[in-house]
Amino acid sequence: MYYPDDVVERVRMENDIVSLIGEYVSLSPKGGSMFGLCPFHSENTPSFSVSSLKQLYYCFGCGASGNVISFVMQKENYDFPTAIKALAERARIELPEERYTEAAKKDAKTKKTLIEIHKLSARYYYDKLNSDEGERARKYLDARDIHPKVRVKFGLGYAPGGWDGLCKFLDEQGYKEPILLKTGLIGKNNAGKLYDRFRNRLMFPILDIMGNVIGFGGRIIGEGEPKYLNSPETMIFEKNRNLYSLNFARTLSPKELILVEGYMDVIGLYQAGFKNAVASLGTAFGQNHAKLMKKYAGVAVLAFDGDDAGKRAALRAIPILVENGLRVRVLDLDSTKAKDPDEYITKFGKDKFLQELSNAMSHVAFNIKQMEKEYDIQTDTGKIDFTEAAAKLLSKLPGEIEKDVYISETSKITGISDKAIRAEILKQSRNLVGGTPKLRRNFELSAVDKRRQKGLIEAKKGIILYAAEDKKIALAIREVLNPKELKDYVFVKLLEIIFNTYDEGGNIYPAELVSRFESHEEQREASDIFINTITPEDEKSKFKALSDHVRAVKKAYIEEQLFQIEDDNEALKLIEAKNNLEKLYISL
Ligand code: GTP
Ligand code: MN
Repeated sequence: MYYPDDVVERVRMENDIVSLIGEYVSLSPKGGSMFGLCPFHSENTPSFSVSSLKQLYYCFGCGASGNVISFVMQKENYDFPTAIKALAERARIELPEERYTEAAKKDAKTKKTLIEIHKLSARYYYDKLNSDEGERARKYLDARDIHPKVRVKFGLGYAPGGWDGLCKFLDEQGYKEPILLKTGLIGKNNAGKLYDRFRNRLMFPILDIMGNVIGFGGRIIGEGEPKYLNSPETMIFEKNRNLYSLNFARTLSPKELILVEGYMDVIGLYQAGFKNAVASLGTAFGQNHAKLMKKYAGVAVLAFDGDDAGKRAALRAIPILVENGLRVRVLDLDSTKAKDPDEYITKFGKDKFLQELSNAMSHVAFNIKQMEKEYDIQTDTGKIDFTEAAAKLLSKLPGEIEKDVYISETSKITGISDKAIRAEILKQSRNLVGGTPKLRRNFELSAVDKRRQKGLIEAKKGIILYAAEDKKIALAIREVLNPKELKDYVFVKLLEIIFNTYDEGGNIYPAELVSRFESHEEQREASDIFINTITPEDEKSKFKALSDHVRAVKKAYIEEQLFQIEDDNEALKLIEAKNNLEKLYISL
């Protein structure tokens, strides 16, 4: 999804930052800005400021900063296009669709209708649960001790036993066969008659991250087969791109998600105060699920069922999560205690579960524990095989400390010495060590000179600020500096945008520049620059400062080239250019 810059800018301008943030944070005026308690870290005295003039926010405590779009991205955990959509809706702006082909436009319309139908259906099931017909389902929920509030929160419902209750209801609402068959909620028998897919089941609406109902899970009431029936894949229901309850879990901090197997586990945990649990939708956990989780969390705690199937599922999910950059811990429910997290909480209470959570082992420990069962370490060959397998696992660990811990653990289990395991790991990891000499050299260089880097960043910020302040200064900068020499993506892009804007006769608005970046991290970097305004200074010191900045940037750029270059003549030229920098001075 891509929105043109002018659309993004319109959406940004029509959502005043003070009024939007005011919906989340109570703000009061202080020294030309609005202040409140920062929504991104916990504090008792307000250090979160919102500038109506700049249309930017900045927290003096945690450094959070950005424009309205960044705020919504950060607060709601939306990606860029989703934030634009939400803000457009808030300001009642119709987003353009002309980029769509006719077919895509029709698809978008159908999807919208399907979402309407799902919303109505959820309402229908909900009403049925709370009508006479729903008595048995209510009793079932009572027996499982699901609180009324939580029933409402998750929109639980009941699909009655007849064959066409929902069909009739939707027909009355004006929805006819062609669209009904696309919902996955309605089927058609051989005689051509429409019927309800879900009958006499407890209904769990499945929501996407925007809060749209996109499908349902239906549980049999009591015992029976199949225990769960889920909506089939439809135009709006992609099982591998959604997770149950992620719309509730995504805005929580700390950014940790508990991954469980069942809907009831999610609900049981939620009710006990663990609102950050999610579950896949009756399909195996896959790459897209992990990517989705990574958007909202840095840590995943697996709390799968305690049976063998649950353990196997955990072993399959771990590498997928790790690959996608999540830190993974595993809560290994001993199946003798409780079959799943929901039952665990019912039996032992939330405090015990919290304890289990904080004791959750790293995925490596879990893996090693499972391996132990596979090999008979009472025998010598079993011991050797186990050590080899464990070494293979350990050799992939990035951290030395972590490695140390598991080496001694493996040693304890097997009675094989630390040293022997280390030797085995070394053997296994030979093939893994990589990187070209050049890469390594760059790496070392960047580690050496952090302090100078910081000065350099300040110089780059200064250049951007001066260029944004005054068109004439910007043009003078362009005479001597190529944006590419700023090296860092955000700076390079900002300077390019500034030059282009002036070329087109436009003005610079910092908050607009911020929304040219799509990731929240980049927005923060960009916005951070404009939080510092240049303090008024006389012309002479202004141009001296600016010239110093430009010289510093160019020098670093040349030095980096020198480091990489192999041809001597080229190198000489660069050295000369570097020496000439002394003469560089910007003025109007
Ligand atoms: P309870 O038994 O009510 O506590 O359910 P649960 O939430 O513990 O679910 P369970 O662990 O039995 O199953 C995990 C998930 O697998 C469910 O949430 C469903 O998505 C899916 N599932 C379970 N049983 C079936 C089934 O019979 N058919 C299908 N298609 N999916 C199922
Ligand atoms: Mn269960």
